[in-house]
Amino acid sequence: MKHIRSIYVFCSIAMSLQGWASKLPEERELTTNFSNMSLRKIPADLTPTTTTLDLSYNLLSQLQSSDFRSVSKLKVLILCHNRIQELDIKTFEFNRELRYLDLSYNRLKIVTWYSLAGLRHLDLSFNDFDTVPICEETGNMSHLEILGLSGAKIQKSDFQKIAHLHLNTVFLGLRSLSHYEEGSLPILNTTKLHIVLPMNTNFWVLLRDGIKTSKVLEMTNINGKSQFASYETQHDLTLEDSKTSILLLNKVDLLWDDLLLIFQFVWHTSVECFQIQHLTFGGKVYLDHNSFDYSNTVMRTMKLEHVQFRIFSIPQERIYLLFTQMDIENLTISDAQIPHMLFPVYPTRFQYLNFADNILTDDLFKQPIQLPHLKTLILKGNKLETLSLMSFFANNTSLRHLDLSQNLLQHENDENCFWPETLITMNLSSNELADSVFRCLPRSIQILDLSNNKIQTVPKEIIHLKSLQVLSLAFNFLTDLPGCNHFRKLSVLNIEMNLIFSPSLDFFQSCQEVKTLNAGRNPFRCTCELRDFIQLEKYSESMMIGWSDLYICEYPSNLKGTRLKDVHLPELSCNTALLIVTIAVIMLVLGMAVAFCCFYFDLPWYLRILGQWTQTLQRIRKTTQEQLRGNVRFHVFISYCEHDSTWVKHELIPKLEKEEKLICLHEGNFDPGKSITENIMNCIEKSCKSIFVLSPNFVQSEWYHYELYFAHHSLFHENSDYIIFILLEPIPLYCIPTRYPKLKALLAKKAYLEWPKDRHKCRLFWANLRATIKVNLLGTREMCELQTFVELNEESRGSAISLIRTDCL
Ligand SMILES: *[C@@H]1O[C@H](CO)[C@@H](O)[C@H](O)[C@H]1NC(C)=O
Ligand SMILES: *[C@@H]1O[C@H](CO)[C@@H](O)[C@H](O)[C@H]1NC(C)=O
Ligand SMILES: *[C@@H]1O[C@H](CO)[C@@H](O)[C@H](O)[C@H]1NC(C)=O
Ligand SMILES: *[C@@H]1O[C@H](CO)[C@@H](O)[C@H](O)[C@H]1NC(C)=O
Ligand SMILES: *[C@@H]1O[C@H](CO)[C@@H](O)[C@H](O)[C@H]1NC(C)=O
Ligand SMILES: *[C@@H]1O[C@H](CO)[C@@H](O)[C@H](O)[C@H]1NC(C)=O
Ligand SMILES: *[C@@H]1O[C@H](CO)[C@@H](O)[C@H](O)[C@H]1NC(C)=O
Repeated sequence: MKHIRSIYVFCSIAMSLQGWASKLPEERELTTNFSNMSLRKIPADLTPTTTTLDLSYNLLSQLQSSDFRSVSKLKVLILCHNRIQELDIKTFEFNRELRYLDLSYNRLKIVTWYSLAGLRHLDLSFNDFDTVPICEETGNMSHLEILGLSGAKIQKSDFQKIAHLHLNTVFLGLRSLSHYEEGSLPILNTTKLHIVLPMNTNFWVLLRDGIKTSKVLEMTNINGKSQFASYETQHDLTLEDSKTSILLLNKVDLLWDDLLLIFQFVWHTSVECFQIQHLTFGGKVYLDHNSFDYSNTVMRTMKLEHVQFRIFSIPQERIYLLFTQMDIENLTISDAQIPHMLFPVYPTRFQYLNFADNILTDDLFKQPIQLPHLKTLILKGNKLETLSLMSFFANNTSLRHLDLSQNLLQHENDENCFWPETLITMNLSSNELADSVFRCLPRSIQILDLSNNKIQTVPKEIIHLKSLQVLSLAFNFLTDLPGCNHFRKLSVLNIEMNLIFSPSLDFFQSCQEVKTLNAGRNPFRCTCELRDFIQLEKYSESMMIGWSDLYICEYPSNLKGTRLKDVHLPELSCNTALLIVTIAVIMLVLGMAVAFCCFYFDLPWYLRILGQWTQTLQRIRKTTQEQLRGNVRFHVFISYCEHDSTWVKHELIPKLEKEEKLICLHEGNFDPGKSITENIMNCIEKSCKSIFVLSPNFVQSEWYHYELYFAHHSLFHENSDYIIFILLEPIPLYCIPTRYPKLKALLAKKAYLEWPKDRHKCRLFWANLRATIKVNLLGTREMCELQTFVELNEESRGSAISLIRTDCL
């Protein structure tokens, strides 16, 4: 228990702390709430800074003088619904700030008074006092505004002690009333008097005295059987005595005759507004309705709400006419199950009629009713069916506001409607109206509620509603926003909960005046068509009600549930023209890039060499070890002229060595006994690969060694993978002597690798060469050696030959 309480106090403090944040330090409020905790004693550890203390709904039976000493800042103390029997107001002697003290619903019998000057609200109602607990000190509480009292006996002498106080409200919450001394209530000076009567009390005397007491009188629990006997004696009540202008009776359960007497009685008092809530009546009728004296009244408003009938045997017309013949300004009979209403045949002065929540039908307007002054008619929640009938009725009035919501109204196209030009607001929500309703609307209408009907479109050919400013079409079946061609002044439009997938934008062109639009909770289709609609919210500041939580995609399914705000519909994918332009631009840029590469980086060369390379790679795959010739001893044989030796030694050989892990050996394998051509041929025969470094110099100085050879061995070597030509420098065809047809043919076929002038391309060249050499040599890379023969013969004028030898074969 203690723990719970501690937690509770903590929570209370925490919650109050939040409240403090915005307030100045001296205004700090601290609420400690011990309500409904079965406390038998007031907790000793009250937080001293507590300003509001709620101890209601506990089991407290006694208050100690020290109980509230610690909470000196206390302003509000709630002790209602406990079991306190005795009260010494001196207990609160140290609570100088106490303004509000609620001790209602206890078992108080005795109060010892002490003048608490600051007290404004003191509630002692619903206690067990024998007499009303008022004494001299009560009269000294000059700030008292609201005073709640109870007591089984009410007598003048008690109220006399506070007669000089100007009270706002006196509340008499009575558990029992054994004696009421007539004339006691009028002694009080209060603006409002509220009396809650115990069951089966004679209310007449209190009603009569109450009307003499305050401007506003409320009486709750008026019931009891046949108490009107004493009515005859009430006639002495004259208008001069009565003060009440607003009379409210709550929870009334009487015989019809008693009720009739109350009406007649109140009719001749100062009451202008008479309201009865939660009325039940029944019984037989003895009084003659025709004797009701309608003369001499100030009554203007009669309100009956939540009426139930017991079995009773009076012709209903009499009851209807009783009220309509009152001919006052305002009449309300709502939630009363009345099936019909009758009006006098002569014109009446009613301005405001409210028959909401009954079971009225079209029959109401079958006979002419003369209500020339009627401004407001509320027929919400009935069973009316024909809209045109309503218009005929209205045409004879000067109606301004008409509420026909929650009926069964329909309109057929061929029926004519005649609305008065005065009508400015009309509520037709929750009916059965379809598109045709737009042919039965008053021209002068300014505010129109057509929500929750069966409207699918706003027809194109309807009369212009020039004054329409507010239109609600929520909860219908519209598939698009209506244009404003027929309502030029429209400023507020509600089309929530319709079937709008993608609102068309001509709405925004024709509806320039619209300031507020509620289009939430429609099944939006979040495609490109919706893009402009989403954009719109960004430009029109807070035009859309409920943005962005109520604007949610329904389609396509991958966006279902996404808020429109979060949907990303890029300009590019939605704008076809833009898309075409973008693609064209991209193509153009690509084309230009390709052209640039061709002209600046010699792209065709790259492509050719790439082609060669890929061909070679394919050949590599095809070639197998067995295809190698048996007598091969060298890996690569390189033939070149002295002029190109620098390139061969510094570029070609290092590259080959690096890649093939070759060892370079000087001197060696040429057989001095043989001719150089013979030796060369021998070398070619014994090498896997033969590389010829072609250049104009080579052609002139060396080629004669080979022309014959190639002529002889053409079948064997031509086009084969064993010979690799590297064109180091371009060789113009005219430089080639006619005696070398083989060379010409070779060059014409472009069957060579071309050494690029551009350094950037060299890598590709090398890669290509490497690939070419690798053909047939897979797996033979381990142990290789290179032999170079230089200047073996004066005749050869610097010819050179390199042999790269492989031992692994
Ligand atoms: C205390 O709590 C009860 C519900 O537990 C609530 O009804 C009451 O209003 C609270 N009292 C105050 C002063 O906030
Ligand atoms: C008090 O608390 C009980 C449950 O603990 C609840 O049923 C009851 O309604 C509460 N009474 C009031 C007045 O809050
Ligand atoms: C009421 O207050 C006045 C002065 O304000 C004082 O003289 C008088 O004694 C008080 N009466 C009671 C009963 O306390
Ligand atoms: C009642 O109080 C009002 C001020 O609230 C005052 O004007 C009026 O004269 C008082 N009436 C009586 C009868 O004391
Ligand atoms: C009648 O009712 C209307 C609308 O509720 C209200 O403005 C007007 O003040 C009432 N008239 C009287 C006399 O109560
Ligand atoms: C409607 O009222 C106007 C003017 O009050 C009148 O001229 C017209 O004839 C009426 N129409 C019908 C159908 O009653
Ligand atoms: C129309 O009546 C309904 C209830 O019947 C109400 O909720 C709605 O607010 C009313 N419309 C206007 C514009 O007052």
